[in-house]
Amino acid sequence: GATVGLPAAGLAGYVWTTTRRSNVGRVSFDRPLAIPPLAAGVRAADGRLLVDLRLQSGRTELLPGRQADTWGINGSYLGPTVRVNRGDVLAPRVRNDLPEATTLHWHGMELPAECDGGPHQMIRPGALWQPAWRVDQPAATLWYHPHPHGRTKEHVYRGVAGLLYVDDGEADGLLPDDYGVDDIPVIVQDRNFTRQGRLDEDGIAFGGLSVTGLLGSEILVNGVWGPVLDVRTERVRLRVLNASNARIYDLVLDHGRGFHVVAGDNGLLPAPVPVDHLRLSPGERAELLVELRPDERVRLRSRPPDLGANLAVDRLAGGADEFDVLELRATPSLRPAPPLPVALPAPPRLAPPLAGRRERVLRFGDFLIDGRTMDLSRIDAVVPLGSTEIWRLRNDVGTPHNFHIHNAAFEVLDVAGRPPGAAWWGRKDTVYVPPDTEVRLLVQFGAYPSPTRPFMFHCHLLAHEDAGMMGQFVLVPPGTDPRVVAPSPVVD
Ligand code: C2O
Ligand code: CU
Repeated sequence: GATVGLPAAGLAGYVWTTTRRSNVGRVSFDRPLAIPPLAAGVRAADGRLLVDLRLQSGRTELLPGRQADTWGINGSYLGPTVRVNRGDVLAPRVRNDLPEATTLHWHGMELPAECDGGPHQMIRPGALWQPAWRVDQPAATLWYHPHPHGRTKEHVYRGVAGLLYVDDGEADGLLPDDYGVDDIPVIVQDRNFTRQGRLDEDGIAFGGLSVTGLLGSEILVNGVWGPVLDVRTERVRLRVLNASNARIYDLVLDHGRGFHVVAGDNGLLPAPVPVDHLRLSPGERAELLVELRPDERVRLRSRPPDLGANLAVDRLAGGADEFDVLELRATPSLRPAPPLPVALPAPPRLAPPLAGRRERVLRFGDFLIDGRTMDLSRIDAVVPLGSTEIWRLRNDVGTPHNFHIHNAAFEVLDVAGRPPGAAWWGRKDTVYVPPDTEVRLLVQFGAYPSPTRPFMFHCHLLAHEDAGMMGQFVLVPPGTDPRVVAPSPVVD
């Protein structure tokens, strides 16, 4: 595979001496894990769930005793967890009190295009944006973050992101669901800091030796450095979101007993899957069940991920890095928890597309899709509303990429021709695409019509996305001739 045009000789020394990062043994884990507040939703007379989200700048003590300039939602860093029931009409009121225009995108949500919060729904400073749509999809751990074209990496890095849970009642009593007690949000981000403890944005764009964009040396969970969680029940559910710009984690528990995966990005798995590690690329989520014994201290750790890249690129992309992420401290006596479920109420498997339906091939370059860079005025794909398609993602280069499709849920059919492990059998919306590898997806598209307003598909390494590794699709009534679709999308 290619090595992103870097001279292999000069590279080796740099890679080996300066790109292995670790916090193991360096960070004391003694700061309580912050739990993002639940957003206070108000039920309007007409039944809509109104949620006020104010994007604002502020200062946050990210490193102990140091103040950093940060951005957040209803606070100075990150945002509240929004919970919505299937069937609710969600009506966020998003006010942009940041000094720059931005957007707020509901990652993993099926919704009308004008509500998506992609790069076409810009919110000027001081403006209020009020989308509203009926949520109708299976329970899942989604999230929200800005999506202004070219600036997503900075806006997310400064702290604009939050969780968005869809509940449907199907798993009631089966899984721990006491928010912040045995059902724990775990937003994992890597960051670099200046000597003064401010966020360091150096290298946030790809370029030079940065093939992925910024990789941080410090790990924050829910904005806390060196976090510890007191565990009071025999089993806890960790809803892990990789909200990092570029870093890929491979999560393990240092007690060596492994854990169970119960959900992927976009819904529950059919049954808990025992694993000893789980790789998560940016934008991906997983729900884990972790068992502890009384008084036990266990670290959630990221060991060097297998990126499938050649050695030089692997090192540049963080493939040698190792971090402690979160310390779990069991109390001397633990309350009983729901037993490990035998089966879970997973959404039905997606039906394969009808014969003759379209299979698409998307070829990834650096940092192009099908040889093209993102153009906000170009539609790259016309997809029949509510249809199922097979998408073949061909990463033709030596760089790690991943892939996210808006307003869609997919199953991973195979990676390099092999079906994925059982932990990846659930519905997803984001997937890792290793270098020089083909990943095949079975994609179910949303059913809200969108003939002129586009949805995005893109690499979720934010520096790649911002550099133009993104395309646009519209959803049209089945049978529409793709050639009659408006070539220039409507901008809100
Ligand atoms: Cu999480 Cu298009 O993004
Ligand atoms: Cu990429």
